[in-house]
Order: sequence, then C-alpha cells, then structure tokens
Amino acid sequence: MEENFDKALIFTDLHIMPEGETIIGLDPLARFQEGLAHALLRHPDAQHVILLGDLTHSGAPEAYARLAPVLVDCPIPVTVTMGNHDLRAPLGAAFPGALNADGFAQTALDLGPLRLLILDTHDYDDQAPLAHDGWLCDTRLAWLDTELARAAGDGRDVVVFAHHPPCPVGFWAMDAIGLANSGALLTRLHGAPHVRHLICGHIHRTIHASAANPKGGALPVSILKSPCHQIPMILGQGTFADSVDEPGAYGILLAMKDTVVVHTEDFALSDGAVQTY
Ligand SMILES: [Fe+2]
Repeated sequence: MEENFDKALIFTDLHIMPEGETIIGLDPLARFQEGLAHALLRHPDAQHVILLGDLTHSGAPEAYARLAPVLVDCPIPVTVTMGNHDLRAPLGAAFPGALNADGFAQTALDLGPLRLLILDTHDYDDQAPLAHDGWLCDTRLAWLDTELARAAGDGRDVVVFAHHPPCPVGFWAMDAIGLANSGALLTRLHGAPHVRHLICGHIHRTIHASAANPKGGALPVSILKSPCHQIPMILGQGTFADSVDEPGAYGILLAMKDTVVVHTEDFALSDGAVQTY
C-alpha cells in the first residue's frame, strides 16, 4: 500500500571555501553541488531544502558569493540558518531575507501536517567571530516560545532544527563546543508535547540520540553528516580539526500521518583516510 508523505531535503555543514581553497583536498562547493544534484534528481517532489548552518568554513563573503547562485538555481525553495563557522553580516548580505526582523536566521515552515522551526544557534557576537559553541539568547528563545504556542494553536506537531546539538555525543572536543545553554532549549522542547523530533548538524557524522526529559520520556535527536568532510570515528577525540574523506550525505525528512522519519543518503565514496585540515 502506498502512503503519501511530504518531504524536505536537509544539508548541513557545507563549509564552502573561497575559489581555489580546499579542506583535506576536497572542494566543498563541488561536493555540495554533487549532493544537491543527487538529491534533486531523486526527490524532485521535495517541498523545502534546508541548509542547517556552517554554509561557509570561515564566513568569507566570497565563499557566500560562490554558494548564492547555486541556491538561486535550485527549483525548490531554500531556507538557510547559521552555524558556528558562519558570520552574520556576510550571510545576511548574500541571502536577502535570511535574517528575520530581530536579525536572526530563524524561520517557521510548514511541511504537510508539521511545522518546522529552524533555530539560529550561532554564538552571535561578531566582535568575537567563530566562537564555536552555540547559544540561544533571550530574543531567539522568545521567538521559539511564540512559535511553539502558535503551532499548538494551529494544531500542528513540530520538528525543530538547530545547528548545535543540545546533548553530548561522545566526541569530547565537539561536546565542549555544543549548545552552551542547552537546558534552555531542552526545557522548552520537553515541555511542549507537540514537539516530535530535533534535527542537528555540527558534528559531521550520522548520530541518533535521545535527550532525556527529567520528568519522563525523551526527545529523539537526529544529527546529520556533512556533504563534504566528516569527523573520524575516534570517540573521546580531543580535537575537532581532524577530518576524514568519507562519503558525503544529506538528510530526507518525511512527514507521514503518524510518524516523522529522517533518512540519510550518502552520495560520494573515497578511500576513507583520516586527514587533518
Ligand atoms: Fe561544521
């Protein structure tokens, strides 16, 4: 029996570099273009493409300028948010409309029966750029409170997106630069029974987790790979600069009648050698 569902494509941690620069020998723009073409060929019926932060590696305007025309040509609407490697001003300049009236890349989208709430967890003081941990200030949390209430009023279940996971994953260097005020997020999500799932990036590896609710139950968390470079599977790793050329991937979110499904799809293969950027 065929079941109808609504679909969104998710890319995280693109790390686009200026022309001629690579990460462990990989061209992040070429890898993203390969992944996007792969996804659009197989999922032309997707309703959204979501870029979950770290659009660039160092926030360089010329890196955003390389990405922008690729997204303009995408036949499916694209929504972007910030990661720790992004900078707010050049991202906002390259993608008009990406920042809301408060100046944050936070967006609410509908996907079938779901409301998708995309958060901006960039530690936002651009005087100290590339602070790698995540942060949700009072303004961004107030937006989340408003949108959670609005979704409940509209009778919609919610999937939340955040670049930084609010739970540890076992890579110590990455856990040290997670969402610094994770409790502020989890308290809200645990307190909202219509929140179904949380989708994150940042780690550069496919991970399934559950963030326990002290009052019972847990929130399921899906963390997606980069289309470019991944973190090597060395648990307890003390550095986040080691990377590995393993297959890139993107996520596919399915909004079914009673189930939220997050697939990951690998699209590139290599010899798997660990390298340092
Ligand atoms: Fe990243």
